[in-house]
Amino acid sequence: MDMQPIPAREGNHNMKDYKEVYEQFQWDSVKSQFSWSETGKVNIAYEAIDRHADNPDKKDQTALIYSAPNREEKLTFEDLKFKSNQFANVLKKYNVNKGDRVFLFMHRSPEFYAAFLGILKTGAIAGPLFEAFMEQAVRDRLEDSEASMLVTTPELLDRVPVDELPNLKQIVIVGDVPENGDYIDYYKEMDQASKDFDIEWVDLEDGMLLHYTSGSTGKPKGVYHVHNAMLQHYQTGKWVLDLKEDDTYWCTADPGWVTGTSYGIFAPWLNGVTNVIRGGRFSPDDWYGTLDKYNVTVWYSAPTAFRKLVSAGEEVASKHDLSSLRHVLSVGEPLNPEVITWGTKALNLRIHDTWWMTETGGMMICNYPAMDIRPGSMGKPFPGTEAAIVDNDGNELPPNRMGNLALKKGWPSMMRAVWKNPGKYESYFLGDWYVSGDSAYMDEDGYFWFQGRLDDVINTSGERVGPFEVESKLIEHEAVAEAGVIGKPDPERGEIIKAFITLNDGYEESDELLEDIRQFVKKGLSAHAAPREIEIKDTIPKTRSGKIMRRLLKSWELGLPTGDTSTLEE
Ligand code: WT7
Repeated sequence: MDMQPIPAREGNHNMKDYKEVYEQFQWDSVKSQFSWSETGKVNIAYEAIDRHADNPDKKDQTALIYSAPNREEKLTFEDLKFKSNQFANVLKKYNVNKGDRVFLFMHRSPEFYAAFLGILKTGAIAGPLFEAFMEQAVRDRLEDSEASMLVTTPELLDRVPVDELPNLKQIVIVGDVPENGDYIDYYKEMDQASKDFDIEWVDLEDGMLLHYTSGSTGKPKGVYHVHNAMLQHYQTGKWVLDLKEDDTYWCTADPGWVTGTSYGIFAPWLNGVTNVIRGGRFSPDDWYGTLDKYNVTVWYSAPTAFRKLVSAGEEVASKHDLSSLRHVLSVGEPLNPEVITWGTKALNLRIHDTWWMTETGGMMICNYPAMDIRPGSMGKPFPGTEAAIVDNDGNELPPNRMGNLALKKGWPSMMRAVWKNPGKYESYFLGDWYVSGDSAYMDEDGYFWFQGRLDDVINTSGERVGPFEVESKLIEHEAVAEAGVIGKPDPERGEIIKAFITLNDGYEESDELLEDIRQFVKKGLSAHAAPREIEIKDTIPKTRSGKIMRRLLKSWELGLPTGDTSTLEE
């Protein structure tokens, strides 16, 4: 669909002119706004929270509005400073030190945010895990990171294989502490802990965060981020989210994923705005209700959410007052031009697409408030970064040619390592280019257009799922001999997970069996990784070297030409 550009709106935007800023901007100018530019020592939690809490005009501003079906709570910047100090003191009491990995496995709550910030204040590395993970997913991540401490809830505890994790020394329980075991009681310890804490000042290049993410092969990898990322979180918050200090901002992502930390924690608080935190998965009524109730001004969400709002129809929207909303953004999957058209009518606003990845740590290619939007395009590179389309040798391609979307390495929030896997880290780079794994082209005016993934990674409702992980789980089921997993296009979810399997002798196809296999993956990995469709085959196509030919499965599924099958096993 070819659509007319949507012009920028009048407004007092933080970035007035993209081209001019892109030509002039230097990251050093951001550094000089922070006190650490003189000392070189920094802590991102201090910059996000304490800096505001120590400012008499700012300390009583609501930093966090927590809203859940049965709980609502507001915390000021000062409250958050004290609570995170208390948690940092608890960590020190139990010998957590700089560089240790402390993981969080729990739902969004004020306790989560206090703990997360407290971890950073000790100089330890935080590892947030999505609450829907099941045992295998939890084990893989705690094992690989060698986390020494975990913060979790009683409800999630039985998904933590405590006895099989030798590095895991302590578990903090937020809630009723089980009697049979040696646990740390979150509430009890917090009550006793001092509100004063000597922050661990670290170097810009010291670690702060591990986010596990899926590739097409192997177990999930630990993407390692450092305190320096704050420059990008802060500045993208200004120019892309267009945050101003009196904004009420809502990012719908869970902090188990990078959007929920970079833009659910750091960008809003570094910019000193009021941050709405809403737990769980929502219905259109909840989305509109939250925007309405808290007078949200800036909203960062995902195509899958917008598509649900589109199908919910205008009647649901008309029940709510959305007049406070000023700026809307999207991330995670391609943003359909139809959805942008819907936004201009239903919300009377443009929806601004942004493109980035767990590995980039922050937004890279974006639509800016003061720039024309070309519906279907992800926008243009953030000032201070350089993007290009390159071929497989790292040569830049001219406009309108499809190739690998690549970024010139060295932006502030770029991952600094893949945890304990230097080979994997190196494999992202071609010369000076970080190669994303996405295919795209750039038009003559410098707008980038997403075309698809170059690997087999599946993007379902904006969540990245590695086919290998799902295949590995499937073949653990007693009935399954072999498995091949692909993403199948779906109008609402972007892609759904489809599994092709062969059965072991003695098993017959039945609806019960297929449901049992689905549940098995759901219980072992997580709901979003469970195949929505399972098809039984006589064989799974493989290469001579034994690699599953997912591309061929996909061509079959979509009724496309099968292409080169010369490597196919007899
Ligand atoms: C992959 C990264 C960090 C954002 C949340 C996802 C896809 C991301 C877009 C977009 C088309 C997009 C890409 C990318 N993706 N944003 N605006 N348009 N595709 O982070 O889980 O690391 O996934 O999500 O394929 O490589 P992630």
